[in-house]
Amino acid sequence: MIAFASRTGNVRYIVSKLSLPAVEINDQSEISEPFLLFTYTDGLGAVPPHVRQFMDKNGANCYGVVVSGNSNFGSQNFGRAGEIISTEWSIPLVRKLEVRGFPEDYAAIQHYYEQYVRREQTA
Ligand SMILES: Cc1cc2nc3c(=O)[nH]c(=O)nc-3n(C[C@H](O)[C@H](O)[C@H](O)COP(=O)(O)O)c2cc1C
Repeated sequence: MIAFASRTGNVRYIVSKLSLPAVEINDQSEISEPFLLFTYTDGLGAVPPHVRQFMDKNGANCYGVVVSGNSNFGSQNFGRAGEIISTEWSIPLVRKLEVRGFPEDYAAIQHYYEQYVRREQTA
């Protein structure tokens, strides 16, 4: 499962390229199976508040984070939400994408999903 947050549509677009089961998160979301988190980066590298809330509730089932950002915000802040989540929840930062990313990003994410997320579902 993919759980994603998207404010202006870029992450939604990325997810649409993967052909994997996906759900958009909200304040109420609960996911009881292994999932990969997709998020955007908010002001000055921040984790969007509802993503943090979601992870506080569901982080135990999260097997990695994929982040979208924009390098125009500077190298310190580019995609930093993904680094913060990776550190705080001790999960891999699978990929950092520039805005909507590129085909090689989608391929790498699909590979990780098959290796580390789908396998857990069938374990
Ligand atoms: C108000 C605002 C602040 C942002 N701050 C950052 C930032 O600090 N670092 C970064 O890498 N991207 C930042 N971004 C860029 C978004 O993370 C990026 O455009 C992302 O693709 C948005 O995903 P979404 O369209 O799914 O919401 C910011 C965008 C907005 C609108």
